Amino acid sequence: MTSSIPLYISQIRNYLHRNPHKSLPRHVSIIMDGNGRWAKRIGKERLYGHREGMNSIRSVVSAAAKLKIPYLTLFAFSTENWQRPRGEVTALFNLLKYFCRKELTNFIKKNIRVIFIGRTDELPQMVRYYLRRTLQATRHCNGITLVIAINYGGQQEIVDAVKKLLKDKAIVENPDLLEEKLLSRYFYAPELPPVDLMIRTSGEYRLSNFLTYQSVYAELHFTPLLWPEFKEKEFLLAVQEYLTRSRRFGALNDYVDR
Ligand code: IPE
Ligand code: IPE
Ligand code: MG
Repeated sequence: MTSSIPLYISQIRNYLHRNPHKSLPRHVSIIMDGNGRWAKRIGKERLYGHREGMNSIRSVVSAAAKLKIPYLTLFAFSTENWQRPRGEVTALFNLLKYFCRKELTNFIKKNIRVIFIGRTDELPQMVRYYLRRTLQATRHCNGITLVIAINYGGQQEIVDAVKKLLKDKAIVENPDLLEEKLLSRYFYAPELPPVDLMIRTSGEYRLSNFLTYQSVYAELHFTPLLWPEFKEKEFLLAVQEYLTRSRRFGALNDYVDR
């Protein structure tokens, strides 16, 4: 299966060569769903599925780096996920810590900068420590940016942005200054471009409070595969399919400069 990867990558490159008006997505986001169901299917605990899901993360990050997709955002933990049993929440945080520790040298080697979005200040101290460490150690990397959404909610991000904005005297005194781009300056990672391609695994057709503001014109890719089944090849196929979409942004011609 691995040997088919260079083929998919060269297919994508050839397609772009033949279709110069097309371009790779600048920002791909993924709702990594279905770990629990995958584990259950093979008679294992949910945690086993979360662990296997980490291999998918590794694989997909590697594919994005090969293609040089500038931003890849992964939904790791939502503001709603606190409603899960305490043991699962702790296990997810432990996995995240482990992942940050284990992958750090790999990120640096592949020149991947890692940043985090979400209400990270509400996370346990040890988790915050690992996030800070990863952020600092990869700060100088200038390849792709891997964005990990943790304790993230799209509505919460908008609320948090409005709170920050209300502290900005210039805007409070002159609200007409406010327009769509300006609001996004108050987001967790203001540099994030709009989402071009949003992928959700596990056959669910919803966005579950992910990147609400940034996804207004995202192309949506839903797949019945469970997250542990989604690897490099599946990611490349999703990008290939994205390239065939006609993005009009409300206009009549096929391609509009953004
Ligand atoms: C996604 O898998 C991972 C997280 C939400 C952290 P799930 O844990 O939601 O797996 P399912 O949807 O129950 O199968
Ligand atoms: C979305 O998955 C959150 C993450 C992938 C982190 P969920 O499994 O929590 O979403 P719902 O409950 O199916 O909407
Ligand atoms: Mg789920």
